[in-house]
Amino acid sequence: MRSKVSVIGAGNVGATLAHVLAQKGFIDVVLVDIIEGMPQGKGLDMLQTGPITGSDAKVVGTNSYEDTANSEIVVITSGVPRKPGMSRDDLVLTNMNIVKQVTEQVAKYSPKSIIILVANPLDAMTQLALHVSKFPRQRVFGQSGILDTARFRTFIAQELNVSVEDVQACILGGHGDTMVAIPRLATVGGVPLTELLPQDKINQLVDRAVKGGAEIVALLKTGSAFYAPATATAQMVESILLDKKRILPCATCLDGEYGIKGAVVGVPVKLGKSGIEQIIELKLTAEESAALKKSAEAVRELVKVMKLE
Ligand code: NAI
Ligand code: 2OP
Repeated sequence: MRSKVSVIGAGNVGATLAHVLAQKGFIDVVLVDIIEGMPQGKGLDMLQTGPITGSDAKVVGTNSYEDTANSEIVVITSGVPRKPGMSRDDLVLTNMNIVKQVTEQVAKYSPKSIIILVANPLDAMTQLALHVSKFPRQRVFGQSGILDTARFRTFIAQELNVSVEDVQACILGGHGDTMVAIPRLATVGGVPLTELLPQDKINQLVDRAVKGGAEIVALLKTGSAFYAPATATAQMVESILLDKKRILPCATCLDGEYGIKGAVVGVPVKLGKSGIEQIIELKLTAEESAALKKSAEAVRELVKVMKLE
């Protein structure tokens, strides 16, 4: 039996994600947007890829949450992307209204679902969806770290001229300027990155990864990255639906782990059928721990702007 996943927001990230999920063959996808006709048209187009790719997955585009009822996973991509010169945080007041309204509908029609946030500013939107849905934190979390580490892994592989498959990396913290790369935990075929590249080169690659989203915004001029963000989110969906229990960096509300309580930041977690099944606590140096706490503070400041209480 196929699983049901709804994707809210049929723009660049949402439509790309829906397409990736539908191609897997074991997921029926419902694509929702407020624009009339657009999700229906994109959905129909995706459905017609089935005979070519060999996928029997159903894809339905809609403007109605009734069609999303009893989804196992709902991904919230609805929200405006940033323009050149804007930070992700500049989106908070616009996107909070969209995410609040959408989360209410998701909680109403799919009360047992797992919600994955993509809309920015990611950590604040995840905290908002947790607050509005009243779901446990195991079932509400955000995509950020897979994308951020994928950027770092890409640049490391390019620099060393090796396969991306053999490069692992670790980035913690908020999905913004305060994200915390931990290069000492990056490896290439099991060999520490710090043994393969000089520190100044590593610092350059970290800097490019941290600013990776802005680099693409500046090139695109309108909108932000979507192929890698959608692929990253699909990896989370697959780990959950197939109960793969992958260890992936996700934005989750910490409850004392890493010495942080009540703030959403990215850390490695185990993702399985129940959502976040374990939060992995890395042993950090004093400097790394301070940087992660600083990142959590930045998220708290942004959450204050939303006046959630
Ligand atoms: P987009 O503008 O292409 O698509 C957004 C879609 O949301 C539009 O089709 C719009 O009509 C729809 N929408 C707006 N209000 C809605 C509502 N109330 N209900 C349903 N749909 C609604 O934007 P894109 O590029 O898809 O990005 C979406 C969001 O994801 C942005 O906030 C962006 O910053 C964020 N993002 C986050 C990433 C991450 O790593 N967490 C990566 C890439 C983007
Ligand atoms: C990114 O990092 C926009 O958050 C998005 O590309």
